[in-house]
Amino acid sequence: MEKPIYLDYNATTPTDPEVAAEMLPYLQTHFGNPSSSYSIGRSNKEAIEKAREQVANLINAKPEEIFFTSCATESNNLAIRGIAMANQQKGKHIITSSIEHPAVTEVCKYLVSQGFEITYLPVEKSGTVNPKDVENAIRKDTVLITIMHANNEVGTIQPIQEIGEIAQQNKIVFHTDASQSVGKIEADVNKLGVDLLTIAGHKLYAPKGIGALYIRKGTQIENLMHGAGQEKGIRPGTENIIHSVGLGKACEIAARDFKKNQLKMQASRDTLLDGLISQLGNKVHVNVNLENCLPNTLSVAFENISAHALASFIGNDVLISTGSACHSGETTISSVLQAMNLDFRTAAATVRISTGKKTTEAEIDFAIEVIINAVKKLSL
Ligand SMILES: Cc1ncc(COP(=O)(O)O)c(C=O)c1O
Repeated sequence: MEKPIYLDYNATTPTDPEVAAEMLPYLQTHFGNPSSSYSIGRSNKEAIEKAREQVANLINAKPEEIFFTSCATESNNLAIRGIAMANQQKGKHIITSSIEHPAVTEVCKYLVSQGFEITYLPVEKSGTVNPKDVENAIRKDTVLITIMHANNEVGTIQPIQEIGEIAQQNKIVFHTDASQSVGKIEADVNKLGVDLLTIAGHKLYAPKGIGALYIRKGTQIENLMHGAGQEKGIRPGTENIIHSVGLGKACEIAARDFKKNQLKMQASRDTLLDGLISQLGNKVHVNVNLENCLPNTLSVAFENISAHALASFIGNDVLISTGSACHSGETTISSVLQAMNLDFRTAAATVRISTGKKTTEAEIDFAIEVIINAVKKLSL
C-alpha cells in the first residue's frame, strides 16, 4: 500500500491507465490537424467525433450537442456568460444558489459589472435548494437559472429535475454545473431537464486540461472567443485532440463501470464512517443526509477538533481536505458551510473525505486507524 493514502477524489482524480493508453498515440504520432483534408487530419477529426459521441452517451445527449473546452471553469463561463449575452434583450436577471463553486459565482459577479442582477438562493440546513424558492425568484427579465448538480464540498445532490420542470414551464434556460456528479451518479440531460451541463475531465479520471459543455440543440448562446470556427464557432481554436480523446475514453469507462464504481465508492465511504463512529461515537457529526449525497463524499466534523490541525497531523499518511481556510491563525469558514448555517465550531472542525473507484479496503482500514488516533491525540 502506497502512502499517503489519497482520499480527496473530489479535488481531482488520477488519469485512468486505459485513458492514458488511448491518448498516447495522439501525443506521439497522430499529430494531424483535424481541419486538414488529408488522411492524418481526417483520422484525427474522426477521433474527436468518436470522443464527442462517448461523452454524449454518458449523459444521454446527442454528439452534436457536446462542445469541448479546457476545463469546467471554461464550460461554466461559456454557459453563463454565453446565455446572458445572447439573451440580454429579453432581460438581465439570473438565478443561482449560494453554494456554487467560484467558477459560477465569479462569473455572476462579473455579469453584475455588466448590468446583470443575480439572485442567490439560500439552501436549507440539508444543503439543498428548495425548488419553490426557484419558482418564487423567477421574474419577467430572468434569462438563466444556474444551479449545480452536486456540491463539491459536502456532496449534496440538488433537486435538478424539479428545477428543470420549473425552468421549462417558465421558458427559462437552465444550466447545471455537473463537475462533481458526472460518473458518480446518473446525469441524464433529458431526465434532469437541463439546457446546458458542465463536465470536468479531471474529476472523472481524464487528465486536467479538458472539459465539455453540453448545449441543448436550439439554445441561443454567444461564444466567448472568436476564431476560425472549430466546435461550430462556439469554441474556436485548433482542437485539443489528445485530451478530447482522453475525455471520451474516460466517459466510455464511466458508463461501462458505472454501477461497479458507484457501489465501490459508496462501500468505502460507508465503511470509513462506520469505523470512525465505532471508536469515536458521538464525537463524529455528519453534516448532510447521506441518502441525498454523492456516493463517495463524506463531510464530517470531529467535536472540538480543528480541521486544519487534523488534516496536517495526518498529512503524511492520509490526504483529505478541510471546509475552512486558515490564514495567519484566522479561520474562515467556506461559503458553502456558511450557507448551510453550520455553527462556527462545527464548520471549523469539518473535513471532506472523498473516495475513488480504486480505493481499497486496506486503504480505508488504515485511514480509519490514522484518523481515530489523530482525533484522540488532538483532543487530549
Ligand atoms: C463543482 C465544481 N465546479 C467547477 C469546478 C472547476 O473545475 P476546474 O478547476 O477544473 O475548471 C470544480 C472544481 O473543483 C467543481 O468542484
